[in-house]
Amino acid sequence: MRVLVIGSGAREHALLLALRRDPEVDALAIAPGNAGTAAIAEQHDVDITSGDEVVKLATRFAADLVVIGPEVPLVLGVADAVRSAGIACFGPSRDAARIEGAKSFAKDVMDAAGVRTARSEIVDNPARLDAALDRFGPPSGDPAWVVKDDGLAAGKGVVVTADRDAARAHAASLLDSGHPVLLESFLDGPEVSLFCVVDGESVVPLLAAQDFKRVGDGDTGANTGGMGAYAPLDWLPDEVVTSIVDEVVKPVAAELVTRGCPFSGLLYAGLAITSRGPAVVEFNCRFGDPETQAVLALLKSPLGQLLHAAATGELADQPSLQWSDGAAVAVVLAAENYPGRPRVGDVITGSEASGVLHAGTTRRDDGAVTSSGGRVLSVVGTGADLNAAREVAYGVIGAIRLPGSHFRTDIGLAAAEGRINL
Ligand code: GLY
Repeated sequence: MRVLVIGSGAREHALLLALRRDPEVDALAIAPGNAGTAAIAEQHDVDITSGDEVVKLATRFAADLVVIGPEVPLVLGVADAVRSAGIACFGPSRDAARIEGAKSFAKDVMDAAGVRTARSEIVDNPARLDAALDRFGPPSGDPAWVVKDDGLAAGKGVVVTADRDAARAHAASLLDSGHPVLLESFLDGPEVSLFCVVDGESVVPLLAAQDFKRVGDGDTGANTGGMGAYAPLDWLPDEVVTSIVDEVVKPVAAELVTRGCPFSGLLYAGLAITSRGPAVVEFNCRFGDPETQAVLALLKSPLGQLLHAAATGELADQPSLQWSDGAAVAVVLAAENYPGRPRVGDVITGSEASGVLHAGTTRRDDGAVTSSGGRVLSVVGTGADLNAAREVAYGVIGAIRLPGSHFRTDIGLAAAEGRINL
């Protein structure tokens, strides 16, 4: 099987490594990729938001399967273009990708499917903002305001704050730039990311993972695309995972079928495990980053065959997934000033170590690897348990040198210390 992966992050690096372990995968290509993926796949610099360009590349490469990593090409309909060209594609149609691309659509689908989620309101008129803010946050009994961009924002469009002025300023700046705002009630409880491979009404869950969205230790500072993750979640009972699949993911998949936009690809449910049970924080239409780096490190089943089956309507016939024992931890190395405008162009040393997955990296003509994005690398450690996996990941990341870079030191720590209780 010849597989073309679309994207340039550590998630795509992890996808390539897992695909390479599949005995049926004999050729890999990536567009546009990064300095790390160039070592394991043919690399092509095409505009991945253009369906035509991706189809041309997939045809030239004679791809049997195209796997689309990021949300932007999916929301723009690149998967539709690939499928229209007769090439199997892992990734939802433009219509189904609205589950991530338009939060108001996702809320409507969840409402129709009877799925628990935060109370919410869309504000698209600045004159209505103050009254709407009064219906959320501390005035309504919630500990904080949750203010989101209704569209795509790479995880950075969300502000959760008990400070009304900060909530208002974020909402007003979104409205000023023409973006409708979603106000939500605050969901308490530990967060879980459950990735499900979905084709129509067939749903195959992967291992549950936990993501760390704030930039600083102890969940402090600004929201990011994700600073680290670990899997599996020993503190999450199997029955809760089963209830998420049966009461959240399957009803949403069925509702999308009913609406004429069946989902085919990776449906990512982000949930809070509240005192009243799981409630959806968000859906994404693709593998999450950095959870994928941890989850796929433990996957023993052949990934290419799984994704190809989903892309060709054969998901229901797949054998159960097999996982390695133990745990995996992914820690993100971010550039100075991330999640603000990152410092770029610095030489990175130590990135050749085992377990390093590249994201914002570029190889210079002289062979040096330099930083070219906010999240620069993910370092994945695996081990017999979370403590062992953390030790490996932190041992490697501590030896990488990039001026001004930073990483969280507490990825998976609360779980390793038994401090997550439901
Ligand atoms: N880990 C968050 C995301 O992928 O959106």
